[in-house]
Amino acid sequence: MTACEPAATAYRQSEHHRFRVADADFLYLVPSGAVFRLDGLSKEIFDAFPLGPLDRGELVSWFTERRYAPDEIEAILEEMTYYDVLTSGDGRPKFPSIPAGDFPLQRVVLNLTNQCNLSCGYCYEYSPDKIAITKDKPKYMTDPVAQAAIDTLFRESAGRPKLHVTFFGGESLLNFPLMQSTVAYTDAKAASEGKAVDYSLTTNATLLTEEIADFLAEHRFGVTVSIDGDKELHDRMRVFHNGRGSYDVIAPKIKMLLARHKTNSIGARVTLSSGVRHVRRIYDHLTQEFDFAGVGFSPATASPDRLYHIGGETMDDILGEFADLAYEYRDHALKGRHHRFTNVTDTLKELHSGVSKAYTCGAGLGMLGVGTSGDIGACHRFVDAPVAQMGNVVKGGIDHEARREFLEQHHIGARPDCHTCWVRPVCAGGCYHESFINHGNTSASLLKQCDRVRGWIDLCLHIYAEIGMGNPKFLERFND
Ligand SMILES: C[S@@+](CC[C@H](N)C(=O)[O-])C[C@H]1O[C@@H](n2cnc3c(N)ncnc32)[C@H](O)[C@@H]1O
Ligand code: SF4
Ligand code: SF4
Repeated sequence: MTACEPAATAYRQSEHHRFRVADADFLYLVPSGAVFRLDGLSKEIFDAFPLGPLDRGELVSWFTERRYAPDEIEAILEEMTYYDVLTSGDGRPKFPSIPAGDFPLQRVVLNLTNQCNLSCGYCYEYSPDKIAITKDKPKYMTDPVAQAAIDTLFRESAGRPKLHVTFFGGESLLNFPLMQSTVAYTDAKAASEGKAVDYSLTTNATLLTEEIADFLAEHRFGVTVSIDGDKELHDRMRVFHNGRGSYDVIAPKIKMLLARHKTNSIGARVTLSSGVRHVRRIYDHLTQEFDFAGVGFSPATASPDRLYHIGGETMDDILGEFADLAYEYRDHALKGRHHRFTNVTDTLKELHSGVSKAYTCGAGLGMLGVGTSGDIGACHRFVDAPVAQMGNVVKGGIDHEARREFLEQHHIGARPDCHTCWVRPVCAGGCYHESFINHGNTSASLLKQCDRVRGWIDLCLHIYAEIGMGNPKFLERFND
């Protein structure tokens, strides 16, 4: 090559996960989080790279000799580089950049109280895995603290037009008057600042009344009801302080709520534990007996020596039942029908949006948790915890330096264990709270679960591609 000749562009395959659905080849592209279908010439070109980089000119002449027109080759190459199927980069893993410590806020989660009228066996608020230190904290949040939290949300939200307030606890309906006054305060502020706010609530449902249901409907609350299945299963863990199960109390109240509140969706959230692992049975009960809009399952976070901890074999059984429901979801989707297993909906949404996450979730990023004293934690699970603290909404607002440090420490680029994992655009290392409970360190990746995480995403990729081929219109619902 002489000094005036341009350097040849060398291409290589981008980092990817390859999978096959009904004789078609697909790539899940790690740098962009996109799904790309390989066929015809694109497949041949991609497969010409088994050993490393190839020069563009060499590629074109190689395929020209094999009956393809140069224009066609150039067009496909353009497409493949545009979608990051081929890259002219150095092949090293790429990560999204670290956001600034004043990254605009979108959501606050208010723990209106740290008290609860139930005593669920697995609850991270009260079990031996509890990390919050509440002995010197007020039991109930007050108006000045809640209003300071809302002021913080608005002040720190920069140009975001739509904000979100979640009420949490403890059992936040123990402090329903504060919920009412906070919504009134927030609505007035939103009107004067020209922003929209929506509300959500997670509740154990024991304290629901018609008045509360009407309030939730009037303010279009998205409601998540915690319920672990039929009476027998639910009452194993979700009990009052005297050990009595809560199912018989909540069942009629949930039906009342579903009948009166039609302005937003009401979903069920199931916490699985070693004795409550019957995914199909629970799903059928919650969709047939209650008509919830969606049912989502989450394994209880627990250190391995807790009796309710889910061991490896049980987790595999649970994932087997997840797969069964996921294929049912696919069959529904192919016929254009809604299915209520929200674990699949949530994953398909992420795959469809082509996310490449820098963080496992919004904790400390667009979302913060606020405790009864106004102390700010990275999320609701870290309210009043000894770690992941970021200031106080009454005393000085967000501690931007602490937040910046948190964001640096938990960024995907700071997790070497994840750097070669193809599933990192959606996983990004796993829940900080689960890491803390299991490893005493919020930024330790949850490596024991990795094969299961990869298996689940691979399954959802297959389903995504099948729906994309059989009923692409169904996926339009994820365009938002
Ligand atoms: C802490 S509660 C607070 C709101 C309300 N009291 C309720 O039960 O819905 C929020 C959710 O966290 C779940 N949860 C409690 N402990 C958990 C744990 N160790 N692992 C996973 N989820 C847990 C509950 O089942 C509930 O769905
Ligand atoms: S109702 Fe909610 S906060 Fe109360 S013990 Fe159960 S899971 Fe924990
Ligand atoms: S925690 Fe495991 S599955 Fe998740 S990105 Fe890291 S290595 Fe991959």
